[in-house]
Amino acid sequence: MKINIDGHIIEVDPGTTILQAARMIGGPSVPPTMCYYSKLDDCGGKCRCCLVEVTKGSEKDPRPMPKLQPSCVTAVQDGMEVKSATSERALKARRSVSEFLLINHPLDCPVCDQAGECDLQNLAYGNENYKSRFKEQKRTFEPEDIGPYIQLHMNRCILCYRCVKLADQLTQERVHGVICRGDHAQISTYVSRAIDNDFSGNVIDVCPVGALTDKTFRFKSRVWFNKPFNAHRDCPKCSGKVVLWMFGDTIQRVTARKDEYHEVEDFICNECRFEHKENVEDWVIEGPRKFEKFSVINANNYTRPLKKVKIEVDDLTLEGRKQDEKKISMKSSPYDEDELNAINEVKGE
Ligand code: SF4
Ligand code: FES
Repeated sequence: MKINIDGHIIEVDPGTTILQAARMIGGPSVPPTMCYYSKLDDCGGKCRCCLVEVTKGSEKDPRPMPKLQPSCVTAVQDGMEVKSATSERALKARRSVSEFLLINHPLDCPVCDQAGECDLQNLAYGNENYKSRFKEQKRTFEPEDIGPYIQLHMNRCILCYRCVKLADQLTQERVHGVICRGDHAQISTYVSRAIDNDFSGNVIDVCPVGALTDKTFRFKSRVWFNKPFNAHRDCPKCSGKVVLWMFGDTIQRVTARKDEYHEVEDFICNECRFEHKENVEDWVIEGPRKFEKFSVINANNYTRPLKKVKIEVDDLTLEGRKQDEKKISMKSSPYDEDELNAINEVKGE
């Protein structure tokens, strides 16, 4: 089947979605995604971030589709023509969707562990959503304990359903999901149940925002202060292929490896993620990971020569500073006898 996206023609198998075809092409034509996740079955169609304009339905029925289509759940038809990055209508709608997602999302990025690798942050910056028109109160939720490893911040959840789909796919007995409807909809566990299974930690990786974060890494460090390394270990439960986020010799956190769309390549078990952080020797380090060009970690490149900072001060301030230096100088207060003895003792005199 042939599809034309922003003037790029590509041939794909029947059943391919517009988003998958766009990813095969790559570049700016790839729509952003907040709910679709290529490794999860039956996901997508929730957030509407990936809207595109279908200007020609197919060779058989060339009529344009009147409404914008979510590219992650719309199958390619032979001869279809799609505008993604070249459609003003789609770009405007995506901007509105990201503004809509931010309606209830708190702007607590300075204290959120996800900052620096948050898809919603990237989306908002990409769409230049710098101002909110929402003046009403944001919805808030009582904190809920969902187990020893995972912290749920429901206020930050955008209800993308990724964590629910992941639990359906990876676990025998899913204990969490979306309860209630409309403005009251929230991620929660069945009464007094904790999320407790060998692969539960993966919900942290699939969550596009900071709604599900790693309790063992909580408030420890900003992600951009750590250096990510590919590493592996022999693990009977999972592939054992992880990313170690190091600060010096210390492992700050362990995550799964993600691809260019920030999607996990191999899901990892909780033992690899949470229980081998003390000893670097537990891991075979393969080497440093490459950062994306625009990653916040790259932006924080301290090896780059720094511009000289020139502080403009007037003479009076400098005079004041000299006076202060004199005041805090110890020169004018001689040592007493005990202090002199102590100093001499140290010197061995
Ligand atoms: S907790 Fe995260 S992954 Fe789960 S629905 Fe909310 S935003 Fe999505
Ligand atoms: S990514 Fe397509 S609707 Fe969310």
